[in-house]
This record gives sequence, structure tokens and C-alpha cells, in this order.
Amino acid sequence: MDTGNGTRLLINEVATRDGFQMESRFIPTDDKIAMIDCLSSLGYAKIEVTSFTSAKAIPALRDGEEVMGRIARRPGVVYTALVPNLRGGERALDSRVDEFNVVMSASETHNLANLRMTRAQSLAQLAEVIALARQAAVPVNVSLSCVFGCPMEGEVPLDGVLGWIERFAGQGVNGITLCDTTGMAYPTQVQQVCASALARFPALDFTAHFHNTRAMGLVNTVAAVESGVRRLDMSLGGIGGCPYAPGATGNVATEDVVHMLQCMGYDTGMDLDGLVGAAARLEALVQHALPAQVSRAGHRLTRHAPPADFAEIALRAKARDQGTKELQT
Ligand code: COA
Ligand code: ZN
Repeated sequence: MDTGNGTRLLINEVATRDGFQMESRFIPTDDKIAMIDCLSSLGYAKIEVTSFTSAKAIPALRDGEEVMGRIARRPGVVYTALVPNLRGGERALDSRVDEFNVVMSASETHNLANLRMTRAQSLAQLAEVIALARQAAVPVNVSLSCVFGCPMEGEVPLDGVLGWIERFAGQGVNGITLCDTTGMAYPTQVQQVCASALARFPALDFTAHFHNTRAMGLVNTVAAVESGVRRLDMSLGGIGGCPYAPGATGNVATEDVVHMLQCMGYDTGMDLDGLVGAAARLEALVQHALPAQVSRAGHRLTRHAPPADFAEIALRAKARDQGTKELQT
């Protein structure tokens, strides 16, 4: 059953931000730039290049300016960066990002752990950041963490989530990313959250962002798309995670999600073979095995040679038929 019917989906790569921030090995700046330049030709709508966070909080991305300054920008690809506060916004503007991806958590505990501010303090800081971006005509997306649950608080009520979205909508942001920071979402919840958000805020561009911590990332992706979400964050190789969210593991893997969506008849615009090649480069960079599966297994119609003694097996099976016939005559 093809459900996609060619529906266009916009694919955002977050490996170079959500992924690299979680790696224990510092990925050299030149390698980050080469990886982003390689990704730029693969069909992405957006690449989250880096974050403009404190080097103490996220040492892996302390080279944000240099990376943003030296990548080759391909027309049509939006090069975004994560911004947590006003200082980050100024750095992002100096680096000529195409979009601010400002961040805040729907959970008070996670916001304090991750950003060292209450949600109200984040909202006030981000109002200044959003004003700064709008003055410079730079679009703003809000990544709302822990929308589907918080690893420290448990359930995060939907009403509260919608309330935060409303406050940001009132400040004129362009889009909201519904982030499942530690893979707590499940498909029926995803349907409910996405359907409510899309119905209540039709003017906002919604993105879904899933981590595969409990192996529900792919089915949650299907639930989001079937609920009408057309923008998806994912991470090459399935690397990723928030260092300030206990138990966080990787995002859904780009090659796995793109493979699934293409099988289902969606138009992702992505070069799947190119992704598999890029994943091999990424594995060499991070120096550990990647959780993604399609880069290992190949696409579903990858054909393998039959067993070495196949000719003999086939002959014996045929001989069995002939033997039966001889017995019957
Ligand atoms: N970029 C660079 N440096 C920054 C910065 C930014 N955006 N914001 C603050 N700093 C620096 C300050 O200059 C100060 O430096 P100093 O110690 O050399 O004087 C230091 O960081 C502390 O500043 P302060 O304003 O007290 O920040 P904080 O310690 O309360 O941390 C954040 C707040 C938001 C900056 C920090 O928690 C952060 O960067 N978090 C990001 C978390 C993240 O990206 N998580 C994963 C993605 S969800
Ligand atoms: Zn994430």
C-alpha cells in the first residue's frame, strides 16, 4: 500500500548539531565543514550546522563561527543554527545564518538543567532574540524540547505545550519544532499532539524531531506525517542526544527514515545512495559504529547471492520431482 502519493516532505539534517554535540571526540573543524559540504548536495531542505551556545555547556560546538563561515552554501538549502540566548543570537547574526533555531524546553526541570534558566526567563530572553532576528529579517524557528515527556518530570501536559507555542506565535516566529528529546513519544500521542498543534496554529510551520531511544522513532515519524506534519528533523547515522537530558540517545537516522518514506511513496527529494556514502564518512569521523540500519543492510530490494551450493540444492530438488514421477509410472 503506497500511502505517500508523492507528497513532498522537507528533510532537515541535525547530525552536525544534535549529533556532534553528543560525541566525546571533538570533531575537527575542517572535518565538520567537509561533512556539511558533502551533505549539502544530497537534497536537504535545511541543515542545522552548529549551535551558538556557551563553550562550557557544549564544548563540541565551540567552533560555530568558523564552521558557519567556511561552509559552501548551496542555494535552496537553509543553513540554520541553534540559539539559546541573546549572546547566541548576536553570534548567529554575525555568522549570517539563514535562520535562528531558538531553543527552550516545555519542561521546567529540563529547561533549568539544559539552559540554566526558568522557562519564564528563557521566554523573556528569547523575546529579545526574536526581535533581533526580525529586525534583521532572519526567520525564526523554535525548537521546543521535551514536548512528549521529560526524563526528569515524566508526562508533559499538552495544554502547557500549546500554551508555549501560543506565546511564541504571538511574537511572530515562523515555525515550531516538536522535539521528543529522549524518545518518550508513542504514535497515538504523536497523532494527538501534532493534530492539536496543526489545527490550532495553521499559520506556523511545524517540524517533528524524534529520538529513537525506545525504538519508536520510525513509527512516530509515520504518525507525525499522517497527522499532516511535512517537515522532519533527523540525524545521519542516528547519532545525537542532549547532554543535559538523562538517558538521551540518538535521533532517528536519516538513511533509515528516508528509506522508509521513499518505500511508502513520499517525495523526500533525498539521494539515498548519497546518504549511505556520507554515513560511511561519518562513521570514520566519530570513530564508533552508527546505530542506523539501512546503511548496513542496504535498501529493501538489495539482492544477495544465493548459498554457494545453490546449484546442487536446485538439482537435488529437481531430481526429487523426477524420482516421484518414476515411482508413479
Ligand atoms: N555563546 C558563547 N558564550 C556564552 C553564551 C553564548 N550563547 N552565553 C553565555 N556564554 C558565556 C558567558 O560569556 C560566560 O562566559 P565566562 O564564564 O567566560 O564569563 C559563560 O558562558 C556563562 O554565562 P551565563 O550567562 O552565566 O550562562 P549560563 O552558565 O547560565 O549558561 C547557557 C546558559 C544558555 C549559555 C548555557 O546553558 C548553554 O549554552 N546551554 C546550551 C545547552 C544546549 O545546547 N543543549 C543541547 C541542545 S537542546
Ligand atoms: Zn534532539
